[in-house]
Amino acid sequence: MLKPLVVGNWKMHGSQAMVEALVKKLLSLAGNLDNVDWVVCPPYPYLEKVATYLKESVIELGGQNHAAVLEGAYTGEVSPSMLKDLGASWVILGHSERRYGLGESVSFVAEKTQLALTTGLKPIFCVGETEAQRKSGCTEALLEQQLDPLLHGLAPDVLQNLTLAYEPVWAIGTGMTATPEQAGEVHDFLRKLLVKYDESLAGSVRILYGGSVKPSNAEDLIAVPDIDGFLVGGASLQAQSFFEIGEACIRSY
Ligand code: PGA
Repeated sequence: MLKPLVVGNWKMHGSQAMVEALVKKLLSLAGNLDNVDWVVCPPYPYLEKVATYLKESVIELGGQNHAAVLEGAYTGEVSPSMLKDLGASWVILGHSERRYGLGESVSFVAEKTQLALTTGLKPIFCVGETEAQRKSGCTEALLEQQLDPLLHGLAPDVLQNLTLAYEPVWAIGTGMTATPEQAGEVHDFLRKLLVKYDESLAGSVRILYGGSVKPSNAEDLIAVPDIDGFLVGGASLQAQSFFEIGEACIRSY
C-alpha cells in the first residue's frame, strides 16, 4: 500500500480567527505524526498565516486552484509560482465545484495541471461524475475523458508528482458517500488507466477518494485496495474529525 495522504480542502470557509484556531488544534493533534502525509488547503488570503504555523510541523500546505499561466494581466488570478512563494507545495485542480460550477473545461484543467507539475507543485487532480452521468452508465468513459488530455500531454517522469482524487459529484457535501464497492470499482478502473499509460507510474501515483468522508466511514473506505487516502471537505473544518480520518489511515497502513 502507498503511504496514505489526507488532504483538507477548507474551500471558501473561515476567518483569521477561525483559521488560527483550526491550525493550532490540528498541530497539537497531528503536527508530529508522519505515518500519513497531511496537507491542508486554506483559502488564498490565509495561506501565509497558515504557512507560518505549519513551519516546524509535518503538515504541508496547498492551494485550492491556480491560474493557467505564470504571470501577467489576469485580474483576480493567482499564479502557481505565487503559491510556491507562500510555502505551498500542493494544489487542488479540477475540483468539481470549478469544473461544473465555474465551467472549467477538461482541456483547461489539464493545462493548469501541466503547469503545476512543471512549476514544481504537486497537483491533486480531481475527477468525478454527476449523479445523472452515473445513472446513464457513462462514469468510466467520462473519467477517461477527464484524465486523458493530462496523461498524454506529459512524459511519465514529469507525472511522478501527480495525485488523483476520485470525487463523485453526487457525494460532495451531500452526506451521500460512495460505498466502498462503488469507490473500489472506480479506483480500480483509474489504476488500470494509469497502468495502460505507464506501469511504473501507476505503482506510485496515489488515488484519493473524496465525497462526504467522515471518521465514521474512513475506516471502511481506506480498507479498499487502491484507495490511498482522502480529499476531505466539510470534516476537515474540525481538527478532531480531520485527525480521526488520518488516524483511520494510519491504522490501515
Ligand atoms: P466533502 O467535500 O468532504 O464536504 O464532501 C469534499 C471535497 O469537495 O473535496
